Amino acid sequence: MNKKYKVPSSFANKAWVDKRKYDELYAWSIEDPIGFWKEHGQCIDWIRPYSKIMDYSFVPPNVYIKWYEDGALNACANCLDRHLDTRRNQIAIYWEGDNPKEKRTLTYGELFREVSKFANGLKKIGIKKGDRVAIYLPMIPEAVVSMLACARLGAIHSVVFGGFSPEALAKRILDCEAKLVITADEGFRRGQMISFKQNTDKALSDKEIKTVENVIVIKHSRNNVPWERGRDFWYHELICDVSEDCPPEAVNAEDPLFILYTSGSTGTPKGVLHTTGGYMVYSALTFKYIFDYKEEEIYWCTADIGWITGHTYGVYGPLAAGATTLLFEGVPDYPDVSRYWQIVESYKVNILYTAPTALRSLMRYGSEPVTRYNRSSLRLLGTVGEPIDPTSWEWYYRVVGEERCPIVDTWWQTETGGIVLSPLPGAMDLKPGSVAKPFFGIKAGLIDKNCDLLEGPGEGSLVLSTSWPGQMRTVYRNHQRFVETYFSRCHGTFFTDDGARRDEDGDYWITGRVDDVIKISGHRLGTAEIESVMTAHPKVSESAVVAFPHKIKGSGIYLFIVLAEGEKPSNQLTKDLKQWARQKIGPIAAPDFIQWTEGLPKTRSGKVMRRILRQIAANQPNDLGDTSTLSDPDVVEDLIKHRLNR
Ligand code: WT7
Repeated sequence: MNKKYKVPSSFANKAWVDKRKYDELYAWSIEDPIGFWKEHGQCIDWIRPYSKIMDYSFVPPNVYIKWYEDGALNACANCLDRHLDTRRNQIAIYWEGDNPKEKRTLTYGELFREVSKFANGLKKIGIKKGDRVAIYLPMIPEAVVSMLACARLGAIHSVVFGGFSPEALAKRILDCEAKLVITADEGFRRGQMISFKQNTDKALSDKEIKTVENVIVIKHSRNNVPWERGRDFWYHELICDVSEDCPPEAVNAEDPLFILYTSGSTGTPKGVLHTTGGYMVYSALTFKYIFDYKEEEIYWCTADIGWITGHTYGVYGPLAAGATTLLFEGVPDYPDVSRYWQIVESYKVNILYTAPTALRSLMRYGSEPVTRYNRSSLRLLGTVGEPIDPTSWEWYYRVVGEERCPIVDTWWQTETGGIVLSPLPGAMDLKPGSVAKPFFGIKAGLIDKNCDLLEGPGEGSLVLSTSWPGQMRTVYRNHQRFVETYFSRCHGTFFTDDGARRDEDGDYWITGRVDDVIKISGHRLGTAEIESVMTAHPKVSESAVVAFPHKIKGSGIYLFIVLAEGEKPSNQLTKDLKQWARQKIGPIAAPDFIQWTEGLPKTRSGKVMRRILRQIAANQPNDLGDTSTLSDPDVVEDLIKHRLNR
C-alpha cells in the first residue's frame, strides 16, 4: 500500500482549489475545452481580444496547433505594465549572488524602467519583431531584463544555458540564425569564474555563423574582457542615453515568444518553439493554482533560466502573477551546505521549487544544516525535472517542510511549456513519488506497445491526446521533425517519451524516459548527441553512451569506447576523453565512467543493443535477457569481464 499524506487543513482551507472545485473544473475543461479556455484566457491581458479559442490537429502529416489565434497581446506587458498601478513599489526580483555578500533588489517599477530602456537599446541597434536573439548569461537580473526586453519588441529569444560550451552555443546560434548575442563579461559559480564573453567570442569564431551583427555585454565581474570594436557594446553604455518609454509591441497570439533547444533521442538538439498567447495563459494559470500563489508571497524557483523551468516558473508565470521572486546565481553547497536554508530564512521564502538532485545532494549531510535556519515562512514545496524517490520526498517533507508544507511533484517537459501532471495542493492527498493528476485541460493516457489505450490501473507510455495552450508549436525550421518525433508513433496523440504507471486512484507515477534521453541532475541530454561528439575524437572509432543509476545525479553517464586502429587505452586518454566531452558540450556531459571495448554488441542488422550496455553499466551482468540476436556474442563476454568495478 502506498503511503498517503493528507494536506493539513490549515493549508487546504485557504487553497485556491479544493477537491470539489478540482473535480468540477477538470470535468469542465475536458467536456467543454472551448468554454473553459475562453474564460481562463482572461487570466492575462489582451491588446486585441480573441474570439477563436483553439484549432488543432494531431494527425500526421497535417499537424498544427493554434490557440487564441485572432487575439493580440504582449508577454512583457503582462509581466510588468499591468502591475504598475498596484505594485510599482513591490519587489519583483530579489537577487542573491554566488557570493553571499552580493545582493540586489528590483521593484516592479524599477524592472519596468530597466526593461523599457533595454528594449529601446535593442531597437537602437536594429532589433525588431521576429528577430532571434541568443541570451547566454549567468543568473543575474539582466537575464530576466533581456528576456522581457525581447518580448516587449516581439523579438524571439533563445536562452542558452550558461553551462554549455562555446561549440554548443555556436550550434544553437547557427540553427536559430541569431542576429544578436547578449552575454556578460564573466559569471561565478562556487566562487569560480566562468568566462562568458570569451566563450561567446569562441562560439562566434565559427565561420559558419553569418547572422550575428552585435554582442551586448553586461558588466558583472568587472574584469577586463576581449573586445571587438564595432560589434560589441556594453549594456550600460547602450542604455545610458535612451528613453524610458517603450510601448509594448502588439503581438499575435501565435507569434513566437521564444525558442529553447532541448535534446532528443537522435541528432542535434531541437529548437522547441513556443508562441505567445497560449503559453502566457498556461504559465499564469498553472503558476497560480499549482503553487497556490497568494498576494505578497515570496517565491523561489532554483532552476537556471537556461531551462524551461526557468522560463515558465522563474520568469513568465510568477511575473504574470505579480509575484515576488528570488533569483539565485549560486549552487546549494557554496559557501556551505546550508546555503538554501540560509536564503529561505533571510528572504522569508514561502514557496520553494527545486529539483530532486539538489535534495539528494543535501540530504547526505543530515538535517542539522537545514534545521540550523528558520524555515517557518515555508508554506509549499515543489519538485521537478526527474522522478523523486520516496526517501528524498520524505526528507523534503519532514526535515525541510516540518510536515507543514504540501509537496507538489510536477511533471512536464520543455515541449509542454508548463506543468501537465501534479497534485493541486488543496485538492489532493500526497503520495511520495507520485505526480498525481492532470492539470485542467489535460487529457493524459497510457498506451501499450500496440498503441492501445489502457483503462484503469496499469503501466505504459504516457501520451496526451488533446492540445493545451502551453504546448510547443513546432521544431524551429523543422516542422517535419516535430510531426515525426511527437505525433507519428501513436496516431493522433502527443507522445511524451516517458513511461508511467497509473494506480487504482487514477494517480500517475513517472517511471522515466523510454527513449535515449538521459536526465543528469535533472539536465536533459541525448545519448546520440554525446556519442556523435565522442566519435569525432581522432582516437575513437565507435562509442555508445548509456545511463546508469547514480545516487546524487539520478543518472550518470557510462561511455563505451572502441578505439581507432593502433590506439591504446590509458589513464591519460580517459582523462582526455572526459575533457573532450566537457569542452564540446559542457561539464554536464562529462562521462562518469569510460569502458574500453573491442566492439559493441550489435544485432545482425547492425543496431547497437543498448539494453545490454545498460545492464553492464548498472553492474547487473547476470540479467542480460535474450542475446540470441547478437551478431557476435563474444563481445558480451568481453564487456562483462572488463566492466568497471564500482
Ligand atoms: C523530462 C523533461 C519540466 C521541466 C524540467 C525538465 C523528466 C520532469 C519530472 C517529474 C519525473 C520528470 C521527464 C520529462 N521529468 N519532471 N516530476 N517526475 N520525471 O524539462 O529538460 O524538457 O525534461 O524530465 O523524463 O520527459 P526537460
